[in-house]
Amino acid sequence: MSNNIDNLLHEDRRFPPSAEFTAQAVGQASLYADSKKDRLGFWDKQAKELLHWHKPYTRVLDWSDAPVAKWFDDGELNVAYNCLDRHVLEGRGDRVAIYGEGEPGDQRVYTYSELTAEVKRVANVFLSLGVTAGDRIAIYMPMIPEAVITMLASARIGAVHTVVFGGFSADSLRSRIDDAEAKLVVTADGGWRKGKVFPLKPTVDAALEANGGGSTVDHVLVVKRGENDVAWTEGRDIWWDDAQAGVDAEHVAQGFPAEHPLFILYTSGTTGKPKGILHTTGGYLTQAAFTHKNIFDLHADTDVYWCTADVGWITGHSYVVYGPLANGATQVVYEGTPDAPHPGRWWEIIEKYKVSILYTAPTAIRSFMKLGREIPAKFDLSSIRVLGSVGEPINPEAWIWYHDIIGGGKAPIVDTWWQTETGAIMIAALPGVTTLKPGSAQVPIPGVVIDIVDDQGIPQDKNSGGLLVISEPWPSMLRGIWGDPARFQETYWEKFGDKYFAGDGARYDRDGDIWLLGRVDDVMNVSGHRLSTAEIESALVGNQIVAEAAVVGAADETTGQAVVAFVILKKSHIDDQTPEEASAILRKHVAEQIGAIARPSKVYIVEELPKTRSGKIMRRLLQDVAEGREIGDTTTLADTGVVSIISAQVH
Ligand code: WT7
Repeated sequence: MSNNIDNLLHEDRRFPPSAEFTAQAVGQASLYADSKKDRLGFWDKQAKELLHWHKPYTRVLDWSDAPVAKWFDDGELNVAYNCLDRHVLEGRGDRVAIYGEGEPGDQRVYTYSELTAEVKRVANVFLSLGVTAGDRIAIYMPMIPEAVITMLASARIGAVHTVVFGGFSADSLRSRIDDAEAKLVVTADGGWRKGKVFPLKPTVDAALEANGGGSTVDHVLVVKRGENDVAWTEGRDIWWDDAQAGVDAEHVAQGFPAEHPLFILYTSGTTGKPKGILHTTGGYLTQAAFTHKNIFDLHADTDVYWCTADVGWITGHSYVVYGPLANGATQVVYEGTPDAPHPGRWWEIIEKYKVSILYTAPTAIRSFMKLGREIPAKFDLSSIRVLGSVGEPINPEAWIWYHDIIGGGKAPIVDTWWQTETGAIMIAALPGVTTLKPGSAQVPIPGVVIDIVDDQGIPQDKNSGGLLVISEPWPSMLRGIWGDPARFQETYWEKFGDKYFAGDGARYDRDGDIWLLGRVDDVMNVSGHRLSTAEIESALVGNQIVAEAAVVGAADETTGQAVVAFVILKKSHIDDQTPEEASAILRKHVAEQIGAIARPSKVYIVEELPKTRSGKIMRRLLQDVAEGREIGDTTTLADTGVVSIISAQVH
């Protein structure tokens, strides 16, 4: 960790907001003072100002059932009404909500009126398929406007969506469908990625055929996008357009209690089984809208906002769908990859739509840096005025490049720390207030209380480090792990009792600004996506040639971390293939089992793994090997010779 912070602190330039920026900024310094004076009063004010309540609440926070919080719980609201109808009713119906840009360059524009009409029809389709409040809908779609429409239609009728990233395998999709007991799956025939159509419906078919075919799913609703051939199960499968043919255009949104579930989103933990993170409506939408507006300095009537995240991740939920639409923003939704059909695709999109706020991940910035500044230089990026970063610490070199090359040397960068579990941004600068420090996420947002503590839970002071905790309940916090309250308690609350343990190491600098130092558990961060070592290990040992496997995240220049596996083959299968062949088979196997994002960058076939005398694999040493470092302390190893053998095999 100490190495890490020294590197991070290398850049010592400071970037205060310009007077012009501050003068027009949405979020002013008074937000901090107000929230410190009366934290609950502050959130009360935000919830009332930012949202429409079908029934006003009388209680702000009820923490009597800790760690399950209730925010605004005797009030009622409809999330879709807040994201759609009210904008139309208040005269903003002609404002563009979504510029949908397909990867091949096709464009579909939705105004708030059009988006509202579409969501009403799809809500009626869901009802006609027997889906009602509380039922679960699994969503497995490309990044097209229909994905957003589906999420909003689900919210509108009080159903609970679980979006599964389109890169996940049939097995991963099936386990999420089963865990959530989804009644309906919404998918597309396929979507565009890297210049080709990648099929989605066949993966849904495979998922539903698994385990003998029986599942909780009654219907599969299919958007036509890729025009690829798909198999059809009569009675179960329905085309999106056909389903809308007969339905009523009107749908009146009713209010649901503020603690009614909105979505479940699965994320990796320290075990092999993903956790279904549960979010509810009133508190979630309050904090998503508040942060989107203030952290990105949203001027909804003039800005064009673009968050590059997929709706399969929490960033896509809070900062593509719920935050921006609650705030009546105009945004770009782009289907494809950054390099298709050419490496300047993103910059072309910024020029085309005059994007003024861009929110993306350090891994993307680093890959653009590698390609060179000549590529963005060919496009007019002068519309950019605010930049955001999320998913991992942004290294100062990438920060400066992002600031100078994309932000024209003037756009502030807000580095936003948060998690699937926190639902919305927790640590970030306010761009009109904070003097920016490249590499640091800096300060808790107004209304959020963060501490860095030692292993005993003692809060640390300036110039020292420890574990990041959230010390007071916040509106958009998770309300549990779907179907597993014990795991919720154990994972986040057991370590410090009344404080939420985030799983990240962090440090205060001498000014008291926060620097994030990465995970302290067996969770990896690859391209800003969370992966579990245990989940990949269990996929590896599920292959018939594998006896034992250990997975580590090794530092990688572009992706932050890369998945590296060390595998011992079964004696009976050692001679069936060369080590290179075994490695290729296993990389492919993991991609098939979990999804391409989990495919190890390297699989080393080894004869032994370093273990303690009690048999625990010492991942720390494997990480040293994978990163080509000198091997650390091996005194607790059962057999100290093992590491040098592995090291020799690898290098
Ligand atoms: C983990 C959460 C929040 C949406 C994307 C990832 C890491 C996230 C930052 C940041 C340093 C960050 C943390 C966190 N992380 N943002 N700005 N600086 N680290 O969501 O998959 O739930 O992962 O991502 O380690 O715990 P997620």
